[in-house]
Amino acid sequence: MNQPFETAIFDNGSIDSRVDPQTELFRALRSHPRTVPPRWLYDDRGSELYSQITRLPEYYQTEAERSILEANAATIAEITGATTVIELGSGTSDKTRTLLDAFVAHGSINRFAPLDVSEATLIEAAAMLGRRYPDLEVAPVVGDFNRHLHRLPSGGTRLVAFLGGTIGNFYQEERRAFLGVLSDVLEPGDWLLLGVDLVKPIDRLVAAYNDSQGVTDAFIRNALTVINRELDGNIDVGNFEYVPFWDGREERIDMRLRACEPEHARIEALDLDLDLEAGEELRIEVSTKFRQDKLLTELTEIGFADGEFFTDAAGDFGLALVCRQA
Ligand code: SAH
Ligand code: AVI
Repeated sequence: MNQPFETAIFDNGSIDSRVDPQTELFRALRSHPRTVPPRWLYDDRGSELYSQITRLPEYYQTEAERSILEANAATIAEITGATTVIELGSGTSDKTRTLLDAFVAHGSINRFAPLDVSEATLIEAAAMLGRRYPDLEVAPVVGDFNRHLHRLPSGGTRLVAFLGGTIGNFYQEERRAFLGVLSDVLEPGDWLLLGVDLVKPIDRLVAAYNDSQGVTDAFIRNALTVINRELDGNIDVGNFEYVPFWDGREERIDMRLRACEPEHARIEALDLDLDLEAGEELRIEVSTKFRQDKLLTELTEIGFADGEFFTDAAGDFGLALVCRQA
């Protein structure tokens, strides 16, 4: 495919990685409970299933965040005056167009740099944005936001957008580490725009992750298919039942796959025998829900302040806009 721009690819286990993805998965599958890091959810099919999730009637988050952006993108451009917008976990950059429209109208922006592990989705989105904004430099980065943040483009005033509630897919300690590294790589005066799903009644939260069409089940199950294909595994994907539940103590949805029968699989590339008893679970993903005050306190402790917090009319979703302090 001809690309109208240079694509930087950092997802190659290069020396800047903290732990390579296979070692991380090996350790996660041997931990208790056994887990799978979220990056294994997002091959091309996973990205397509996630796009389907965003259109489900039960999944309110995408439209809630879009409405916040529509109402406040001009204000965000005005407050930040950013010259570079960076988007982490950008996916299709669908809602981002609302943000970029406002920045282009404001006139400060000259560069957009989306970063994602899902290469095909990223390149397609970047090509679409290049056509929509011919005067903007679109500089996509195929990479891992857990390992490659110090490679983000520098110079000017930067706004890092991390939308969709993806920060909720980190475990608490990982979230702190990630925000700490992000704070380190940004300069005083740079900005963070962080989308978070908010705590709300449990029935709505559980419905959003247990949809009637089974798309979320397929999305979560796809992680095992990706592992089988990419790491020469033979996990029996059909031997698992999807089990989502609300963890009230951690305030997060916990999405697991439970073995129906004993599972004896081999993952060749990890040199790992995966032996599960009937009923044993793999935790594939968590999705933490946030409270405004606690989140702003956490961000302040990490070096971001002077914030605004935007919500949609129903108060379902939040967008925190905070500035990296000196
Ligand atoms: N921001 C978009 C997409 C959210 S889905 C939205 O708001 O709709 C989460 C995105 O994060 C996916 O595109 C996935 O490919 C990407 N992603 C997941 N883990 C990642 C990682 N470790 N590094 C970079 N991107 C990652
Ligand atoms: C990308 N992320 C914010 C989604 C979420 O809601 O946690 C991923 C997802 N998992 C299941 N449904 C959607």
